[in-house]
Amino acid sequence: PVTVYPDQRTASVTVAARIAKLIKAKAESGEKAVLGLATGVTPIAVYAELVRLHKEEGLSFKNVITFNLDEYFPMQPNAAQSYVTFMNENLFNHVDIDKNNVHIPDGTLPQEDVAEFCLNYERLIEEYGGLDFQLLGIGRTGHIGFNEPGSAPNSGTRLVTLDDLTRSDAARDFGGKQNVPTKAITMGVGTIFKAREIILMAWSQKKAPIVKKAVEGEISGEVPATYLQLSDNVEFVLDEGAASELT
Ligand code: F6R
Repeated sequence: PVTVYPDQRTASVTVAARIAKLIKAKAESGEKAVLGLATGVTPIAVYAELVRLHKEEGLSFKNVITFNLDEYFPMQPNAAQSYVTFMNENLFNHVDIDKNNVHIPDGTLPQEDVAEFCLNYERLIEEYGGLDFQLLGIGRTGHIGFNEPGSAPNSGTRLVTLDDLTRSDAARDFGGKQNVPTKAITMGVGTIFKAREIILMAWSQKKAPIVKKAVEGEISGEVPATYLQLSDNVEFVLDEGAASELT
């Protein structure tokens, strides 16, 4: 299903409330909430609202386990552009999560160790019982995580090569496209698909053409987000700009 909100703030508050409800329901039954998280500009207001719920309404993250979708490769965790830095600044440093419960793909590994790392990442998600919830944005290539055009529907966590357009879109953060890493470690389409609840969010007219393809286009590896049409657990959460080309 597709839900369109008047603006991204209202949408973000609603998504944060859903995540908070999940965390609390799990806590009440003495269970962990296993969350798949995204970076980028899209989820910033969701994280800000979760921080507010923690600070003002007592939402605890003590029972929360997180797995981030992706990380650039190579990437040092303390670099300004790392997804570790992003998550710390936007969420983890401001809530009571145990940092041992946080998982983000490791951009510092020697390349020959990446495949084993990726298998372990998958295994760890399974050991926690799988992802209860996965938050997604969408790139202008149609990527989810960093599953670029050509990704297989059953792909797992792996090292990928970033699309040229994705690197252009990241150029500003890196002070020039030449500084954007050419690779990343990402959860696969298959990894994402196994989540019991998936929310893909997109804001602004800039995303309208790719949102139209993702929601209404033919299902194809050329636009990996179209695979989500095959899942019953997906909701597309849009603002009016992102929804503006839908029929
Ligand atoms: C980020 C991720 C990417 C982004 C996508 C949109 O962890 O996996 O798929 O969600 O590139 O990025 P923004 O939100 O910056 O437009």
